[in-house]
Amino acid sequence: MNDSPLTPKATVVSPSNIAFIKYWGARDLERAIPENASLSMTLDRCSSRTTVEHLPNGSDREGSGHEIRWRGSSGSLVAAPPSFADRVAAHLDRLRDWAGCGGAFRVATENSFPAAAGIASSASGFSALTLAVLESLGRQESDEVRSELSRLSGSGSASRSVLGGYVEWPASSSSAPKGSAGPVSYAAQVASAEHWDLRDVITIVESGPKDVSSLDGHKRARTSPYFEKRLQDLPARLDLVRRAIAARDFEILGPEIEREAIDLHMIAMTSRPAIFYWQPPTLAVLAAVRALRADGVAAFSTLDAGANVHVICRPEDEAQVADRLRAVQGVERLILDRVGQGPRVEAEHLF
Ligand code: DP6
Repeated sequence: MNDSPLTPKATVVSPSNIAFIKYWGARDLERAIPENASLSMTLDRCSSRTTVEHLPNGSDREGSGHEIRWRGSSGSLVAAPPSFADRVAAHLDRLRDWAGCGGAFRVATENSFPAAAGIASSASGFSALTLAVLESLGRQESDEVRSELSRLSGSGSASRSVLGGYVEWPASSSSAPKGSAGPVSYAAQVASAEHWDLRDVITIVESGPKDVSSLDGHKRARTSPYFEKRLQDLPARLDLVRRAIAARDFEILGPEIEREAIDLHMIAMTSRPAIFYWQPPTLAVLAAVRALRADGVAAFSTLDAGANVHVICRPEDEAQVADRLRAVQGVERLILDRVGQGPRVEAEHLF
């Protein structure tokens, strides 16, 4: 991602990620400063592709002045609905202020996975948007700054998607990247994708949007009587997961990430008001994963804030895991994903 653009237009493909240690609860929700450190695996196939053009003379007198389109269900690029466009415009304003460049932006974006797949697209979407804006302005920034700026979108998990492989996002980073006004919190790679080829059999049981957003979940996290206990236990768990990745020890990693996902949902279910993301087929998939293990197949589940299950396994077990999960009643489709390389700049633009 090094060449300066010849035109103020740039396209970036940025991946989604699946958290092994979850970001849940924020000290500062608006700036997405988390209560706890998190760690994720960057995905390969689930990604967002975003083209940004900087219009130096674009006016922001009417509305935001930005033009925001997405790939609609018809297959063409159409004006994005306000629920999405407003969030994107707010981030574009933030990046424009940060860069001090004035003007406005023309944006188009699409996902590699169907919009209604029930897979979180904000991590990939907001990291792609942030990086494409930087590219369109010809700004060469460090990974720290790119992560920090992606996080400021409000989608904290976007801070982890700017890097490939296995990525840790501490609750607060010890040193501020040049030019940033604290507090700072940015992600860093703990191991490359080449270090360990793990697979994610994403098992879709619900394709609609979830009832309660992650933002509302973060807000409610502290109302759970178990949240403080979770915060106390997390450093040891993070250390174990970090060491399991370094040693490529799936026997340690697998059980720990499954426990972590159950803890996250236990916090959600015991928040006030309670949040239930699981659906009946979610439980059927979790049972199928336990049955696979009883048959000697090392597969472990993790779930973000939704009903769909990410089943993590080694490459040699992927086909067997997929066959078993496809047969579970209520499973709509599988996406076979794996650890990926992180964002890339593309020469071909969406417009
Ligand atoms: C459960 O505030 O980053 O996925 O904007 O929906 O991606 P989105 O949510 P964000 O919270 C992520 C919550 C999580 C855990 C995680 O990815 O760390």
